[in-house]
Amino acid sequence: MRVYVLNGPNLNRLGTREPLIYGSTTYADLVALCESTGRELGLDVDVRQTNAEHELIGWLHDAADEGAAVVLNGAAWTHYSIAVRDACSQLTGPLVEVHISNIHAREAFREHSVISAVATGVIVGLGVDGYRLALLHLAGRQPKPLS
Ligand code: DQA
Repeated sequence: MRVYVLNGPNLNRLGTREPLIYGSTTYADLVALCESTGRELGLDVDVRQTNAEHELIGWLHDAADEGAAVVLNGAAWTHYSIAVRDACSQLTGPLVEVHISNIHAREAFREHSVISAVATGVIVGLGVDGYRLALLHLAGRQPKPLS
């Protein structure tokens, strides 16, 4: 199963960005964690990050066309981008929304996600473990051969 792990703006700054909120794991560590988890689970994991909204939307279109699964941390776009939400709505595979921090325990403007209503499930506040849990969930969804 092909899985796109897509990260929105500022997530390339993990490790140095507000470590009290996002932890000390760097973006490179996060990529390594997702790739090693993918190998362990037999998933074809492709981890990407962008600060350009149109690039994320293009990747979501590719995932939709391929029927691929998506793990998405839309970062700030989560809270207001109807364009990202509309791209998510086109996905035919499962979509797991992940946030490193607990967006419900922070500023009021972070509480609402425009993505959650079109996601298969949402993982918030568990740090980068959320990505691993999302991949574990997706691996469990793979069709198993009948015996
Ligand atoms: C985030 C939470 C968002 O509110 C914020 O804009 C981010 C990261 C998280 O992973 O906790 O950039 O998505």
